[in-house]
Amino acid sequence: MSVTSLPINPDAGGRPLRPTAARVLDCLTEGNEHHGADRELAGNLKRVAPWLPSSVMVNRRHATRVVRYLAGAAGYRQFLDLGCGLPYANETDQTLHTHGAALSVRNDVCTVYVDNDPGVCAHANTELAAHEGTLAVQADVTDIDRLLTMPQVTKVLDLSHPVAVLAHDLLPWIDDDAAFDLACGLHRRLPPGSALSVTHASTETSRSEAMLALREAYGGAGIAFRPRSRGHIRALLGQWHMETPGVVPTELWGVGYGRYAQTIPSGPDTFSGTYAAITTNPTARSSRQE
Ligand SMILES: C[S@@+](CC[C@H](N)C(=O)[O-])C[C@H]1O[C@@H](n2cnc3c(N)ncnc32)[C@H](O)[C@@H]1O
Repeated sequence: MSVTSLPINPDAGGRPLRPTAARVLDCLTEGNEHHGADRELAGNLKRVAPWLPSSVMVNRRHATRVVRYLAGAAGYRQFLDLGCGLPYANETDQTLHTHGAALSVRNDVCTVYVDNDPGVCAHANTELAAHEGTLAVQADVTDIDRLLTMPQVTKVLDLSHPVAVLAHDLLPWIDDDAAFDLACGLHRRLPPGSALSVTHASTETSRSEAMLALREAYGGAGIAFRPRSRGHIRALLGQWHMETPGVVPTELWGVGYGRYAQTIPSGPDTFSGTYAAITTNPTARSSRQE
């Protein structure tokens, strides 16, 4: 679908569409799934942070790298992609999203995509989840107990075996209490050996003023965006065991660490504005990593 084929005011009641985080991201990366309101907000964001589109790409490259690591060296075959967002723009093969990245390493993977945005889920259903071993679910991740007991989810994910959860660029859109509860709920609900990979926009980067300006710009459009300090991100994950290299700038994750050497290198000079971390259930570590 071309950009211009999407109406600017498609609301049935004649009200202007509000921007969404997923469509704004799509616009920033030259996708086709955005409306006038998304383009307007994306323009405002780029004015205060011209580096934003490239940081989105850094984060996406990181996602591919992490999934390949988790499916490869770490041995996970079940993936739960929370806040999956729209399929990446300019992908010739949409299976390159989480499931495709895992499939490139092993052929027995299954992936459940989750998002609460109906537009995202429509795309996830037709593109991402159109492949064997995949499912797309529209659900609010802040009710993790409900999500992990949905029959369609438990049909795909065997929750008696470890699951690798991705929460990439998800927690900034969720308030402090709900983000903490989500991390705790995953830890409580998932079996030993499970992993949680997080990326998170931060106020503690070399461009912290721009990050605060982004928060203002999103807020002005009615979207609460919560970049957090490195310590706060670590605290949200407090129940989980922090794996090496800890909470690090996303562009540096895996650089210089031999165990990730087989994955895609990411240039240390590329600014992401985010932190990345992989955590595991402590019980899992001894069984998976030795
Ligand atoms: C900025 S996008 C990130 C997309 C993708 N994970 C990535 O890293 O490119 C954040 C996504 O989280 C979704 N999201 C935000 N809050 C959510 C919630 N409470 N439950 C489910 N999805 C949520 C949004 O709809 C959006 O698609």
